[in-house]
Amino acid sequence: MAAVALAGRTGEVLAGAGDVRELLTRTERDRADALRSAADRDDFVAAHALVRLCAARLLRRPARSLTLVQSCDRCDRPHGRPHLAEAPGIGVSLTHTRGWVAAAAAHGPVGVDLEADDGHGPMNWNVAERACGPAELAGLRAHPDPRRAFLRQWVRKEALVKIGAAALDDLGRLDLPLHGTGTSCWRDWRLTDWSAPGVVGCAAAREPVALRTLSAGL
Ligand SMILES: CC(C)(COP(=O)(O)OP(=O)(O)OC[C@H]1O[C@@H](n2cnc3c(N)ncnc32)[C@H](O)[C@@H]1OP(=O)(O)O)[C@@H](O)C(=O)NCCC(=O)NCCS
Repeated sequence: MAAVALAGRTGEVLAGAGDVRELLTRTERDRADALRSAADRDDFVAAHALVRLCAARLLRRPARSLTLVQSCDRCDRPHGRPHLAEAPGIGVSLTHTRGWVAAAAAHGPVGVDLEADDGHGPMNWNVAERACGPAELAGLRAHPDPRRAFLRQWVRKEALVKIGAAALDDLGRLDLPLHGTGTSCWRDWRLTDWSAPGVVGCAAAREPVALRTLSAGL
């Protein structure tokens, strides 16, 4: 079975997945409760539920039987790269941003990222110069909509960061093919791009990713 990825609006996940807080561990519920904004809490809960739904589909077992565990190699807080206690060999990843969430589960490493895109704002060339390789930058400079094109590169890079292919402060090392130029691979990683009005995303994995959006329900 291909890797499973699901993406949608936070409200769709919360409306379609039942009592999602019940799926979360006490540690995750405490992390959610510590967030000041109700919208951020909803995004967090929806993403942490969605990753279980992805893993449940991949493993063909109930979502409520899966425990998400996170630990940090820099501090003792329960955050960082997630894994499943019951299936530590499978890869899981999640992302949340302003009313949108996505998650993925794969037989090997997987990373997923989303960024909200309000369609406005100037292109930040300083950030692009730090985050992109020479070929990417040349492609962006020639692009009719460099801001949007950079955002698409950014989510590809963050998906690869979550896999461990690069560190956040070393993104320029990821000189990726420009989105839309026909190549959706970097080394032996497949990049599955996705967008909807107001958001862009990407999932990275070695295996093909079957990405489903939630507008048709869970
Ligand atoms: C991984 C990272 C790039 C994602 O950040 P982001 O784009 O702002 O946020 P997203 O919503 O897309 O993804 C967040 C999720 O990525 C996951 N994640 C966090 N760190 C991760 C890592 N090192 N590898 C893979 N996934 C990671 C978590 O599940 C997190 O969600 P949660 O906080 O609700 O549990 C960012 O967390 C990062 O740079 N981490 C490294 C720096 C670090 O370790 N900081 C903490 C030091 S104490």
